[in-house]
Amino acid sequence: MEKFRIEGPTRLSGRVRISGAKNAALPAFAAALLTSEPVHLRNVPAVADLQTMARLLQHVGATVSVEGSEACIEARMIETPEAPYDLVKTMRASVLVLGPLLARIGFARASLPGGCAIGVRPIDLHMAAFERLGASVSLDHGDIEAKAPGLRGGPISFDPVSVTGTENAMLAAVLARGTTRIENAAREPEVQDLARLLTAMGAQITGAGEREIVIEGVERLHGATHDVIADRIEAGTYAAAAAATGGEVRIEGAETAFLAEPIRTLRSMGVDAEASGGSWTIRAPRNLRACEIATSPYPGFPTDLQAQFMALAIRAEGISTITENIFENRFQHVPELDRMGGRIRVEGNRARVEGPSTLLGASVMATDLRASASLVIAGLCAEGRTLVDRIYHLDRGYARMEEKLNALGAKIERVR
Ligand code: EPU
Repeated sequence: MEKFRIEGPTRLSGRVRISGAKNAALPAFAAALLTSEPVHLRNVPAVADLQTMARLLQHVGATVSVEGSEACIEARMIETPEAPYDLVKTMRASVLVLGPLLARIGFARASLPGGCAIGVRPIDLHMAAFERLGASVSLDHGDIEAKAPGLRGGPISFDPVSVTGTENAMLAAVLARGTTRIENAAREPEVQDLARLLTAMGAQITGAGEREIVIEGVERLHGATHDVIADRIEAGTYAAAAAATGGEVRIEGAETAFLAEPIRTLRSMGVDAEASGGSWTIRAPRNLRACEIATSPYPGFPTDLQAQFMALAIRAEGISTITENIFENRFQHVPELDRMGGRIRVEGNRARVEGPSTLLGASVMATDLRASASLVIAGLCAEGRTLVDRIYHLDRGYARMEEKLNALGAKIERVR
């Protein structure tokens, strides 16, 4: 297993280019199953989750070729309409193939994902959405099976709002007969990006980015070329790292409008975050102020940046409070951050971070993708050597993280 060996402390400075968004590229890959024509995707990030998704599409019968940041997917025939257990258990987003398979050939099967490191994460809302489109859904020996001779549009409502649930519903409804209204739809930029791709493929969708999405089903979809949006979570991670290390970093290629709440938080901490022409510059103040964060669906503060901002809050003066409202078990980075010298107490879904603390390098264990990123930020701030174990979690969602950080002055080595 690989680890990061980080020698700290470091003050990050320079510029970093943000890759395409993992959580936009994943549903885009799945969308390619809706047509027999090729779908070309650009700005695809080089992350392990997309390799898993590519393997899944190949298992289903598609050809997938990836060259650099470009991918071409051609699903002329659907051979095996299922997401098998070994892929679903490594990546829950595998269930995103259910909607397109159901829409294209009227049948789909996937292993039911179990709980994961950040919470229970059921997929009941995805299933309910398929039922509203006329499918029958059953559980058979740990597999979910959805069948429908022909999908028909219908009303779908999400409570709570679900990102991949909304995406799966869209992926099925685009080929259903009639009108589908998705109420309390996820408004995330990744949902909007999927709508842009589907529209380029011939779908009729209005309201993506709003609470209600309306889809008029069409008979068939065709191939398209699409640029995946930049990864706002990767951008927010580098912003938190720059601020935590007292640095100055220009973040290039990420849309600041998609990060309004994290930027507001940074500013409330005294960080200078200046946007101009598709890039923004983060300048840390001498002393950071404590912050107050409560995660919520977009446009609120993203749960996917909660752990990284907690590492930042350790450096701030005063008591920060961080409330996690999306997942019930997303504080697994806390004991690891405390081992490095953080003073964090968790009560229910709220963490109280007392700062500033001087961090000392230690051996720590990554538990999930974003928790890993918070440990890397802490390692950059800490005095001495930090070993972050299980960085396969990081590789799932961050493209070339050590390369990008080293270019900003970090000293990170990937070791076995
Ligand atoms: N939920 C249900 N039933 C469902 C689906 C969701 O109860 O059928 C609940 C979840 O348990 C959770 C809440 O609804 O409490 C919201 O979960 P959501 O469905 O929105 O999460 P997701 O679609 O599984 C995506 C991202 C996650 C990100 C969340 C929240 C992808 C591939 N994944 O997951 O990304 O944390 O939305 O924004 O888009 C990550 O990138 O590190 C990551 C975990």
